[in-house]
Amino acid sequence: MNKKETVIPQHIAIVMDGNGRWAKKRFLPRTYGHKRGVDSVRRTIRACDKQGVKYLTLFAFSSENWQRPEEEVSALMSLFMSALESEAKSLAANGIKLSFIGDTQAFPEKLQQKIRQVERLTREGTALSMRIAANYGGRWDIVNACRHVAQQVSEGGLAVEDISEDTLRASLSTQDVVDPDLFIRTGGEKRISNFLLWQLAYAEFYFTDTLWPDFDEKQLELAIQAYSRRQRRFGKTGEQIEQQSQESSAGKIPSSRKAPPTGTKSA
Ligand code: IPE
Ligand code: IPE
Ligand code: MG
Repeated sequence: MNKKETVIPQHIAIVMDGNGRWAKKRFLPRTYGHKRGVDSVRRTIRACDKQGVKYLTLFAFSSENWQRPEEEVSALMSLFMSALESEAKSLAANGIKLSFIGDTQAFPEKLQQKIRQVERLTREGTALSMRIAANYGGRWDIVNACRHVAQQVSEGGLAVEDISEDTLRASLSTQDVVDPDLFIRTGGEKRISNFLLWQLAYAEFYFTDTLWPDFDEKQLELAIQAYSRRQRRFGKTGEQIEQQSQESSAGKIPSSRKAPPTGTKSA
């Protein structure tokens, strides 16, 4: 594919899977794989920013990951803490805005404080806007949104017949970001594992056998190239989409309408 045809997704969401298997292959403890996974996170942030991706959402800990052995869970908590400590300044210096989605209240108090501190420190960032999904579950997100909407109804601020997709979307943890365009899962499994269930409705899916600690700029480029070859139809026919893109390149309609972003809104 020639370089000109590369389409950069606005928002990439990644299930960073395969740390344990990466370590196991090397007869190392699983936690070593998680440590190396932090290096991949650093590389991926840099590469996304360089490519002009605006939003990046990384799945770091699912609401189901509490079921892992206690030592692994506590090693992960320590790793989150040390990664935030070591990366905060450089994120801020590079204009990366970091925030968390998920039920972080379940984390140790010190980690919660650190999360709030890094969010504050990086909140003025205007380069890549990044979310870490931690103690996140797609079902949790939807239930939470329903609670919020129900609250509005019970307080009389919203009529039941006025509940719409937009109402629900505005109550999700991702209310301030467009839906992901590209979903990447490393580690070879072909499943969502309760990641952004609502938000991935029209994302393009890309699965790679590469284990997360081996993921790098080249791997990201391959995913973006695969994405660039997809035709996003949003329910329309291929012919309609082609016609729209011809019209938009002829200047008849704004390019933002090339592929109507069902389920997305501008951030
Ligand atoms: C993903 O890697 C990281 C977390 C879930 C925290 P895994 O730890 O799931 O690695 P595998 O799937 O066992 O190889
Ligand atoms: C998904 O990976 C969660 C994260 C990457 C944080 P898992 O390894 O937990 O997913 P399953 O258990 O294989 O579905
Ligand atoms: Mg896994």
